[in-house]
Amino acid sequence: MGTVAIIGTGFVADLYAASLRTFPDITVVACYDKDAERLQRFCTYWHLPAVDSLDAALGSAATLVLNLTNPHAHFEVSRLALEAGKHVYSEKPLSTDFADAVTLHHLAKERGLQIASAPCSLLSEAAQTLRMAVEQGRIGVPKLIYAELDDDYISQAPLTKWKSESGTPWPVEDELVVGCTLEHAGYYLTWLMAMFGPVRTTVSASAGLADVSALTSAPTAPDYSSATLFFESGVVARLTCSILAPHDHHIRVIGDRGVASVTEAWNNRAPVRIRTRHVIRRRMINSPVARKVPPAAFTRHPSVKRRGAAAMNFMLGPAEMLDAIAAGREAVQAGDFALHLTEVSLAIQSAGENTGAQHMTTSFVQPPLTRWSGQRTGQ
Ligand SMILES: NC(=O)c1ccc[n+]([C@@H]2O[C@H](COP(=O)([O-])OP(=O)(O)OC[C@H]3O[C@@H](n4cnc5c(N)ncnc54)[C@H](O)[C@@H]3O)[C@@H](O)[C@H]2O)c1
Repeated sequence: MGTVAIIGTGFVADLYAASLRTFPDITVVACYDKDAERLQRFCTYWHLPAVDSLDAALGSAATLVLNLTNPHAHFEVSRLALEAGKHVYSEKPLSTDFADAVTLHHLAKERGLQIASAPCSLLSEAAQTLRMAVEQGRIGVPKLIYAELDDDYISQAPLTKWKSESGTPWPVEDELVVGCTLEHAGYYLTWLMAMFGPVRTTVSASAGLADVSALTSAPTAPDYSSATLFFESGVVARLTCSILAPHDHHIRVIGDRGVASVTEAWNNRAPVRIRTRHVIRRRMINSPVARKVPPAAFTRHPSVKRRGAAAMNFMLGPAEMLDAIAAGREAVQAGDFALHLTEVSLAIQSAGENTGAQHMTTSFVQPPLTRWSGQRTGQ
C-alpha cells in the first residue's frame, strides 16, 4: 500500500506505468512534466491524474516521489522533493555531479527521509538467485567477475522509430550526452554491490569512439568504458559498458570450484546457471552441462511482459521502498548504497585515458539477501 507522484512523463515513465499495473496497491496521486503535451498524452493513455505544476505534485498526498526526469534535472527535482518532505526514488544517476549527490544524501538524512537510485534489477529473481547460489558456496569461494553491458552500435540503429507505448520518442541526444556508463553500469554494479559489498578502488578507462555528429551537436559522453573494480571483500570484477560492441549482457561469477552465470541483466527472470570445475585424470574441465539453479520462493515478484529490449519490472524498487518506509527501515537501494553506486558510476564514466586508480570515499553496509518479494499481488 502506498502513494506516489511521478515527475517526468517521458520515455521511461511508460515502463513504470506498465509495471505499476502489477502493483495494484500502489496509487499514483499526481503526475507532472514541464512539457504539457507529454504530460497530457501520458496521463490520458494510462488514466493517471495530471497536475499543472511541480509545486502541486510535491504538495500532493504522495509518500514517495518518482523522479523520472532527464539526468541533468535530477538534482534540482530531488532537492525540491526532499525539501517538500517527500521520500525520493530517482532514476539513475542520483545526480550527474558527485558533490550534488552528496548534498541530496545529507539533505535526506537531515530531514529523516530516504533517497534511492535506480536501477532496481538487483531485486529481481535472477539477481537474488545468483546471490543465493554464490552465498550457498555453489561455486566455492568467488574470486573474479566478468560483467558485460554492451548494447550494439546504437548510433546506427533506427532510433527515430523507437517510441514508448504512449508515443514518446527515445531521447537519443540525452542518452548520448549522459552516456552509456551512467545509463547502464548500475544494472550490474548494483548486483555486484549487493553480493560483494563496497568497492575500494576502481581502475577504469573510458572513450568516445562512434561518430554521432549526425545525431547531436552537443558534447557527448564516452560510449565505451571498462573498469576493474577492487571490492573491500577481496573479489575483483571487470565491468564493461559500450554502445558499440554487439549486444552482450553476460555476467560470470568465477569461483574456485566453478562459474555461475546469467546472460541477460534486463530479464528479471533470466536463469542462473552453474558449471563446476573437475579434474579428470590429466585434464581440467568445466562441466559441459550447465545446471540451472532453482529460484527460491522468496525471489518471486510480479512480472511485466517483455516490451522492446527489456523484461524488467521498474516498480520493484519503488515498491520495496514503500514497504521499507512503512516498516520504518531503510530501503535496499537508499542512503549510503545509492551514494556509493553514484560515486563508482561517475568514476568509471569520467576515467578517460590517464586517470588510473580512483579510491572510493563512500561505503555502505551490505544489505542482507533480500527477503522482500512482491507476492502480495500474486504473479
Ligand atoms: N530511455 C530509456 O531507455 C531509459 C531506460 C531506463 C532508465 N532511463 C532513465 O530515465 C530517466 C528519464 O529518461 P527518459 O528516457 O524518460 O527521458 P525523456 O526525455 O523521454 O523524459 C524525461 C521527461 O522529463 C521531463 N522533465 C525534464 N526536466 C523536468 C523538470 N524539471 N520538471 C518536470 N519535468 C521535467 C521532460 O520534459 C521529459 O518529458 C533518465 O534518468 C534515464 O537515465 C531511461
